[in-house]
Amino acid sequence: QTLKSRTLDAVAEYIRDGRARRIVVMTGAGISTSAGIPDFRSPDTGLYANLARLNLPYAEAVFDIGYFRGNPLPFYTLAQELYPGNYRPTITHSFINLLHQKGLLLKLFTQNIDCLEREAGVPDDKIVEAHGSFARQSCIECKAPYPEELMKKAIHEKSVPHCIREECDGLVKPEIVFFGEQLPADFFENRSLPGEADLCIVMGTSLSVQPFASLPMMCGDGTPRVLINGEQVGEMGSRADDVLLIQDCDTGVRKLAEACGWLDELEDLWEQ
Ligand code: OAD
Repeated sequence: QTLKSRTLDAVAEYIRDGRARRIVVMTGAGISTSAGIPDFRSPDTGLYANLARLNLPYAEAVFDIGYFRGNPLPFYTLAQELYPGNYRPTITHSFINLLHQKGLLLKLFTQNIDCLEREAGVPDDKIVEAHGSFARQSCIECKAPYPEELMKKAIHEKSVPHCIREECDGLVKPEIVFFGEQLPADFFENRSLPGEADLCIVMGTSLSVQPFASLPMMCGDGTPRVLINGEQVGEMGSRADDVLLIQDCDTGVRKLAEACGWLDELEDLWEQ
């Protein structure tokens, strides 16, 4: 066993001793709920529990490429709420930036499309946006890029944009990854990186969507893995060096920062 015990204090000691110099962080919607953005699968508050008005055959259809081809309107009805811009990063986002500032962040793998990691200060080259983002948009047929201003207008008007090449006229979609679509190359180029990490922190994800859900398994056997989440998920907890902190992310990162002697620094960074 690498850690002295499967506790937060043992993780903090491991970090303080300088043994965690390459940390990988894996995140999902749960790190943004305290910013006011709903997650997907929480029973009452999650997005999928609140889509009845869209008359979908099943909730995840709103992000399914096959369904979108036939009926893109439900996605565009929702897109306004999902579009980044109106939210402030949480202290959990700032914690990831703190790891970066201390030179300890090897890579952040996020499933989120809210861009709050970037807004918290984590640089682009440290982030793998595994499920894409709203940063670009293109035609799903000919892949022609679509102007951002026109996309903003379409989202604001809840209308469905079509390819600017008239002879094509395909549907346009933000480059967020839908079910049935390939993840970005950046994900596949970096997916083995957890094997080089000496600490893994998984936060705010149900680990229910593949292939992202398999990332924590890429960590070496003796690499401590910490889960900070409202519930136990995936196979987290199955290894001797797994530490489960089943609690709110913001509370968990504050406790971890405090045990590392970083709490004031973290609060300052978040308030900036
Ligand atoms: P989910 O909604 O599936 O899971 C969120 C997890 O975070 C759950 O385990 C919650 O218990 C936990 N959680 C929520 N709020 C929390 C908080 N404040 N503190 C601690 N834990 C909290 O979201 P993801 O795992 O991100 O993909 O979902 C994965 C993918 O499914 C998304 O990227 C999206 C979705 O369909 C696509 O659309 C392609």
